[in-house]
Amino acid sequence: MNANSPILIFDSGVGGLTVLGELRKALPDAPVIYAADMAGLPYGAKSEAEIAARVSGLLGRMAERYRPRLICIACNTASTIALGMVRDVLEIPIVGTVPAIKPAAALTRSGTMGLLGTEATMRQVYVDNLEREFAVGKTLLRHGANGLVPLAEAKLRGEKVSVGAVADEVKALVLQPGGRDLDTVVLACTHFPLLEPELREAMGADITFVHGAEGIASRIAYLTRDHSFEREGPDFAVTTGELADFEKLDRAFANYGIEVLEKF
Ligand code: DGL
Repeated sequence: MNANSPILIFDSGVGGLTVLGELRKALPDAPVIYAADMAGLPYGAKSEAEIAARVSGLLGRMAERYRPRLICIACNTASTIALGMVRDVLEIPIVGTVPAIKPAAALTRSGTMGLLGTEATMRQVYVDNLEREFAVGKTLLRHGANGLVPLAEAKLRGEKVSVGAVADEVKALVLQPGGRDLDTVVLACTHFPLLEPELREAMGADITFVHGAEGIASRIAYLTRDHSFEREGPDFAVTTGELADFEKLDRAFANYGIEVLEKF
């Protein structure tokens, strides 16, 4: 293993930055390549077949081009659909991002939790299994909030995002039967923690938001515990979309230590 071999963080857009933020704290010296499938964004409204094909095809090409030591699929939608098949074909460790139902179940006092993710994530058997395993005796209310994804992308481009717009996207969660008892909400899309201040204002200060970014960073740190890290050049980010659009995110990426943006 070369000390300069990167960790590749993959998402459909900027959501994976929430994972990168935690990874920076856990492994500040690790070289990172951030890959955004902007040409495929949003994943949440796509079919399982389309997401599986895009994610496994792109990660195969990226693994060959960049020779990462590990890939993190920093996207709940891609992970709940394609994690198994990507692991089957690539010979490097793949860390996925799956809804943090287990920690939320340990935190809820009312016993009623919310699950906010994309529509595609909400319908996955993977999520049914997590609920069956970790939310026994509790209520889990699901809501597919695809509309939060473009709001998070806009916020990171420096555009103004109103609390009202965020509230509109999540009100259907609270309006479900039992919704008033919610005290814990799982942010099961990596884009959503980017809107946590707006979500907090929209849903009330007494709701606890839970997401998996810190846990994912510790998992990566654990899997690479014997590795040495050395940066040969600056970390960079690649997009499958138009570079000019990606460059509108330059300040957001710079906040996470990435100053170089390229086309994949
Ligand atoms: N960030 C992705 C996730 O965690 C989804 C965003 C999208 O819809 O593309 O689910």
